[in-house]
Amino acid sequence: MTLIRHNFGYRARPATVRVIYDLAELRTELDSLRRSGRRIALVPTMGNLHAGHLSLVKNARQLADVVVTTIFVNPFQFGKNEDYDTYPRTFDQDIDALDREGCDILFAPDGHSIYPRGDDSVTRVEVPDLSNILCGESRPTYFRGVATVVSILLNMVQPDIALFGEKDYQQTLVIQRMVEDLHMQVEIIPVTTVREDDGLALSSRNQYLTPSERAIAPALYATLGQIRQSILGGNCDFHGLAQRGTELLAFKGLRPDYFSIRRQKDLCEPNPGEKQLVLLAAAWLGKARLIDNLKV
Ligand code: PAJ
Repeated sequence: MTLIRHNFGYRARPATVRVIYDLAELRTELDSLRRSGRRIALVPTMGNLHAGHLSLVKNARQLADVVVTTIFVNPFQFGKNEDYDTYPRTFDQDIDALDREGCDILFAPDGHSIYPRGDDSVTRVEVPDLSNILCGESRPTYFRGVATVVSILLNMVQPDIALFGEKDYQQTLVIQRMVEDLHMQVEIIPVTTVREDDGLALSSRNQYLTPSERAIAPALYATLGQIRQSILGGNCDFHGLAQRGTELLAFKGLRPDYFSIRRQKDLCEPNPGEKQLVLLAAAWLGKARLIDNLKV
């Protein structure tokens, strides 16, 4: 039996995943693993783990000797009117899930460990261009918060590889660009999106959906698929197609934020006839803002 400290006190439970709250303890543990030649993988999350997160852990286990998952609900990436306070926190279930998946270390720092001086005055990491478009337009400080916390976590863990989901396509690209620009010695590995049987991408925010909204939600992925078919059929009027995608989302009962067709490698607007595209969309459904993407 390991004694596990969690948000609500202490209790005994069996666990093979080692839960670490303290940075010094994490560093001691990882230093000795690194010295013995182990390859370390990092999977950063905000918890409330579902099969999408766990697929990152699974992939990490294939690619490294030691898997470190982090859980930290990062206040710095939430806008003022966003859902930081209500974001689902399910720490006990998360430990069980990581245990089942064979994760070695769960690092769960508190806000003070990450931002000792508070997040208002912390050194910031900005990735220009990529952060101002698409999701960055409606969430202007989001990618700054993500890039900052991920660079902090990368410095704390110093992994050989770090895994991110393609569901958050723009986020993964922002992290890749940051790592490149700052010459960080870590390889970023994108992992395929895990979906429900009806196509809806798994997301912690799906639980905000009412049953009737949940029935509409797969329309986001279906619409991306429809527009992809048009492109594969030879239509390369990307503006017209994006407009059509937006209209379809609205027609199907979502409130579109954007629907866009971009270049995979840098999210720039493609020239006619260009290949290697990605369709990206965000839409509101009740209280949930859903995002998804599909490569062509
Ligand atoms: P979170 O939303 O918890 O997601 C953690 C990781 O899981 C991200 O890399 C995300 O892309 C991936 N993920 C989420 N849903 C997925 C799905 N259906 N299929 C595959 N992967 C999926 O993204 C964040 O946290 C935060 O912004 C973070 C990077 C941890 C920084 O705070």
